[in-house]
Amino acid sequence: MRIDILCLFPEMFVSPFSHSIVKRAEGKGLVEVVTHNIRDFTHDRHATVDDYPYGGGAGMVLKPEPVFEGVEHVRRVTGTADSPVVLLSPRGRLFTQGVASELAGHAHLILLCGHYEGVDERVSEHLATDELSIGDYVLTGGELAAMVVVDAMVRLLPGVLGSDESAGEESHAGGLLEYPQYTRPEEYRGWRVPPVLLSGHHAEISAWRRRQSILKTAARRPDLLSR
Ligand code: ADE
Repeated sequence: MRIDILCLFPEMFVSPFSHSIVKRAEGKGLVEVVTHNIRDFTHDRHATVDDYPYGGGAGMVLKPEPVFEGVEHVRRVTGTADSPVVLLSPRGRLFTQGVASELAGHAHLILLCGHYEGVDERVSEHLATDELSIGDYVLTGGELAAMVVVDAMVRLLPGVLGSDESAGEESHAGGLLEYPQYTRPEEYRGWRVPPVLLSGHHAEISAWRRRQSILKTAARRPDLLSR
């Protein structure tokens, strides 16, 4: 899978993508992440990427031209015509585990990160094929949101996680939060590991875990249960 990210601060991606699972996935050739600076697609002396909003109001708006030209550049170098173009914005549909697995099925994705007060609406209407929000709060830019999307997606690609790190049982995989996990020691500061987990009885362990998942979900995220 190839992911092209258009943003104003490509340096922000260097450290997060140089570690851990994304790095390992790149090393194995399972994913290639390429960042581009939207400023490189301006043509004026000052490399202007933003301007005042028509109609007045606070803040600046990201201009459409460098964003459209950036996407056209990516289309040319990758030879792709119809891979999804995802705009990260607080107005997007909510990014969930389900959306992560849907996106992980594409061979190529283009992510657009906004900044300033917003992005010219023509980007949302005529360039983006999808608009995603990672939660109901406002970040200073789409870069952090793009990192979240890439991280959640890359770990779902076949071959990225080892068989002992399976993505099948974790929180949100089946619409429930994950059951509690324990490791050694068997007793720590007087707190014991639930005896069923030491029993070696696989059916009982499965039943206990399922019940714990439901109880945790009901207590913390009843909204997930009602879905
Ligand atoms: N840009 C600013 N806030 C955002 C959010 N919550 N999700 C995605 N992109 C954003």
